[in-house]
Amino acid sequence: MTLTAKLIAKTGLSAEIAAFRFAPLAGRFTGMSPGAHVDIHLGADLVRQYSLCDWDAAGGWVELASCGTVLPVGPEQSILGVLRDHGLPVAFGCAQGLSGSCMTDMIAGEIDHRDGILSPEEQAGNGYMCICVSRAKSARLVLDM
Ligand code: FES
Repeated sequence: MTLTAKLIAKTGLSAEIAAFRFAPLAGRFTGMSPGAHVDIHLGADLVRQYSLCDWDAAGGWVELASCGTVLPVGPEQSILGVLRDHGLPVAFGCAQGLSGSCMTDMIAGEIDHRDGILSPEEQAGNGYMCICVSRAKSARLVLDM
């Protein structure tokens, strides 16, 4: 199957890994599932191979505003865990949404609050979150860190 698509976004995930978002120029992408491999023909004899993922359905992205680093967060991962896995120094305490030690200001995105300390009004303000337990409702969260 050959589809013609346009690159609509490129996100650097690390120095060696990037995520690309494509939109079909006609029709729809069908018959593809996360994990499938695709050949991208970039012109002349240049062909690159990639693996498909679907983070919009399976998880999301967290961006660190201070450095622009963007990291994938799977549906079973915490933002705190992802940041620590990448060696980032992040303050935390209980890791259960009860202490507020990991409270982080948010710049953009929508939060699925799962902590036990913020009031409904504070949660509705969408200005900060406990990154140990709370998740993203939007595909991307931009944290003030
Ligand atoms: S570490 Fe206690 S609320 Fe996140």
